[in-house]
Amino acid sequence: MRVLVTGGAGFIGSHVVEALRARGHEPLVYDVRADPASDVRNPDTVSRALTGVDAVCHQAAMVGLGAGFSDAAEYVSRNDLGTAVLLTAMADAGVRRLVLAGSMVVYGEGRYTCVRHGVVRPGPRAVTDLDAGRFEPLCPVCGAQLSPGLVGEDAPVDPRNVYATTKLAQEHLAAAWARATGGSAVSLRYHNVYGPGMPRDTPYAGVASFFRSALARGEAPRVYEDGRQRRDFVHVRDVAAANVAALEASSRGGALTAYNTGSGKPHTVGEMARALASACGGPEPVVTGEYRLGDVRHITADSARLRAELGWEAGVSFGEGMREFARAGMRQGRSG
Ligand SMILES: NC(=O)c1ccc[n+]([C@@H]2O[C@H](COP(=O)([O-])OP(=O)(O)OC[C@H]3O[C@@H](n4cnc5c(N)ncnc54)[C@H](O)[C@@H]3O)[C@@H](O)[C@H]2O)c1
Ligand SMILES: [Zn+2]
Repeated sequence: MRVLVTGGAGFIGSHVVEALRARGHEPLVYDVRADPASDVRNPDTVSRALTGVDAVCHQAAMVGLGAGFSDAAEYVSRNDLGTAVLLTAMADAGVRRLVLAGSMVVYGEGRYTCVRHGVVRPGPRAVTDLDAGRFEPLCPVCGAQLSPGLVGEDAPVDPRNVYATTKLAQEHLAAAWARATGGSAVSLRYHNVYGPGMPRDTPYAGVASFFRSALARGEAPRVYEDGRQRRDFVHVRDVAAANVAALEASSRGGALTAYNTGSGKPHTVGEMARALASACGGPEPVVTGEYRLGDVRHITADSARLRAELGWEAGVSFGEGMREFARAGMRQGRSG
């Protein structure tokens, strides 16, 4: 299969390219980082790049939480205008297969249950609570403590920041494209991806990158809140394998299918910091009580659908992956 990999020079995209090659496919990299003309917002270059292509694996995006609201227009431009231009060119070129890099950020806060009220959806956390060190969201009905659980694909979406909003809009655009063209669209909603080649710390990077970069400078990783935030850290090679599985599968035409893409084994951010620190030989993490507005408390996936329908399985364990990541190289500079 000839696959156009947008963002193919990025962290995840470059692993996708490698995994496709290893399976005997022909990946073509389309990325502004590799070639300044290869912008997904450029209709002419996208159209030319689609010649003879069987499928598109759309990884290109501006990632991360960003710096406040100031870069909102740039997120929308790259992620949503970019996706619209790409899908239009695919419609014209008759390319009917899309795999999209989705994200768990579309869910907002994860799934919680109250002993009295069952599954509830807490809203964004209040600044006064965060300032007072009350990090756990409480039951919106009775104020009781909640227990976090695993989010399924059918959970309601609730994007909490600009980046999350653009990732959700990408899915809606892909679904509209699938309905209009009969094409098949798959969104792999990645959880926290980490591994070799992860960009160094910038406002656009993931938490594993911040910790790893601090340790490389000989500094203690600074863990926000109380360190008990739960996440699903999934290794980049497993994410690349999920992309290959989705590209090779015969997916339903005319609709978008979403799959959570996580390891299925939640860990806390504090555990991740400790695992990296010990693999690097210290220093030990510091839990600071600071927070970032827009961060959610717990978000962990149920990836059963991906395992059942695409036969995918996460192969890299947390311990093994973190030990490798502690030694692995990182990429310099801001993405895009
Ligand atoms: N890293 C994670 O934990 C994570 C989690 C969920 C979803 N994702 C998604 O995975 C995808 C890849 O993310 P990543 O972590 O590899 O980030 P990355 O920044 O390393 O890769 C993104 C690539 O896209 C390219 N790009 C950006 N704008 C472009 C444009 N307009 N035209 C062409 N290329 C452009 C960049 O040059 C970069 O190489 C993104 O869609 C992101 O939203 C990542
Ligand atoms: Zn309650």
